[in-house]
Amino acid sequence: GSPLAGASWKDDGKEMPVPKVPDIGSQLAENRVSITVVGASGDLAKKKIFPALFALYYEDYLPQHFTVFGYARSKLTDEELRHTISKTLTCRIDKRENCSDKMEQFLQRCFYHSGQYGSEVDFCELDNKLKEKEDGKIANRLFYLSIPPNIFVDVVRGASRSASSPNGWTRFIVEKPFGRDSESSSELTRCLKMYLTEEQIFRIDHYLGKELVENLSVLRFANLVFEPLWSRNYIRNVQLIFSEDFGTEGRGGYFDHYGIIRDIMQNHLLQILALFAMETPVSLDGEDIRNEKVKVLRSMRVLKLDDVVVGQYKGHTKGGKSFPAYTDDTTVPKGSLTPTFAAAALFIDNARWDGVPFLMKAGKALHRRGAEIRVQFRHVPGNLYKRKFGTDLDKATNELVIRVQPNEAIYLKINNKVPGLSMRLDSSNLNLLYSERYPREIPDAYERLLLDAIEGERRLFIRSDELDAAWAIFSPLLRELEEKKVVPELYPYGSRGPVGAHYLAAKYNVRWG
Ligand code: NDP
Ligand code: BG6
Repeated sequence: GSPLAGASWKDDGKEMPVPKVPDIGSQLAENRVSITVVGASGDLAKKKIFPALFALYYEDYLPQHFTVFGYARSKLTDEELRHTISKTLTCRIDKRENCSDKMEQFLQRCFYHSGQYGSEVDFCELDNKLKEKEDGKIANRLFYLSIPPNIFVDVVRGASRSASSPNGWTRFIVEKPFGRDSESSSELTRCLKMYLTEEQIFRIDHYLGKELVENLSVLRFANLVFEPLWSRNYIRNVQLIFSEDFGTEGRGGYFDHYGIIRDIMQNHLLQILALFAMETPVSLDGEDIRNEKVKVLRSMRVLKLDDVVVGQYKGHTKGGKSFPAYTDDTTVPKGSLTPTFAAAALFIDNARWDGVPFLMKAGKALHRRGAEIRVQFRHVPGNLYKRKFGTDLDKATNELVIRVQPNEAIYLKINNKVPGLSMRLDSSNLNLLYSERYPREIPDAYERLLLDAIEGERRLFIRSDELDAAWAIFSPLLRELEEKKVVPELYPYGSRGPVGAHYLAAKYNVRWG
């Protein structure tokens, strides 16, 4: 080691920090990364991962020397992979300069290796190809596991043993589902950790990469006006709402094994809730943020059946067009009780949030597509305007809405005087509409997350203790739903969902926004 390491040196009597001895390996590897998309023939790879990698390349965010490998069992040539993915690459903004040239340059850096997921020999062959492209230089390696969960561990075993970077870092991005309850999730973590350290595992929840979810912390901690209101003292309830206007569409086989609670609530909505409700972190460092998220998750009450409503969409005909029932999907078993809709009331038993209902609602085949956070504030005390003018402010409390998608926006409902000689109050919005304020297109969540994984930024990835805490809230309920064979309330495809969701909200004196 360097004689300077750990010591201080004096210059003109002032104590100066010792310059860190550079880690030559990681410094040389900084500009070189090999990315292997495992499951490259699949839906997610084509739809999201390759387009996100291209967008990063287009914007000059990828290291100077990078190679992308697709890995799957399907027999494809490099050219065939390029042809397939070229169909889904887009220049995000129309008429971008030199986009087709850039696309061609990107495709020339994409290669394919066909192999079995459990075969170390096949991963050895991949390793040889990677080394060839890396040209004997020090290089980092990133593996993206875009495959069904039953083969995660096989791939991690094969790739970590036979295709790890010999001299740089090796990281694995793992896609959900991370198990289907506490036990299976712990088992998955245990198996992954037989081959990887926690630092090598990047568990993705793509909602954390969405622009407005990332902005939640900025909104809270970079503005004086919100944080003082952010507690039971001023907030009456918080709503986390996810809806899709389409059904399972080809993913019924996967979906039926998980259902909407595992697919959306236990991860996407709960992650948003944790960011929304956590205490101020010590710093913006990934570990500090994740520490706070774990604390708030561990303060949450275990969800009870009484606080949950489940639904499933049924066939529906509208305007001469017929929409299928969930159980019409040929990959779904007949008579399936898997919920495609759920509403739940959750509570955080800590000083900040005691008694505040956090209501979640998530569903497929509803009347619209969207995701939003709605914060309903308490009523204005004293009711000055009711006494004088009969205006009931109880019915028009302030509401802050963070619309995650589509048409991203943050707006605050305030009570305002209608201009004129009479005294009439009106509820109006202070509206930050992203498309007006920031005309530049918002990057896809996968771009942010891939970039962070390459840069080693862990803030937006799920740590194993977070995952344990998240499952602990939902696992007993999920078991009970299955054991008691709870029958979901049917709702027509394209509707607002089962009416039971309104009764659940009413139980806590809440109206859905
Ligand atoms: P796919 O079902 O398309 O699978 C990806 C690839 O894995 C396939 O092309 C196939 O490649 C291989 N594969 C599929 N089934 C099996 C099997 N039973 N045994 C071995 N290999 C198999 O998955 P997606 O691309 O849809 O998703 C990948 C991962 O991402 C999953 O974990 C999924 O839950 C998750 N995810 C997906 C989303 C999406 O929108 N699609 C959204 C969020 C998460 P080959 O036959 O060539 O080997
Ligand atoms: C995935 C779910 O995690 O998120 C899908 O498995 C869902 O069922 C998808 O459709 C929604 O993501 P987005 O980004 O389109 O809202």
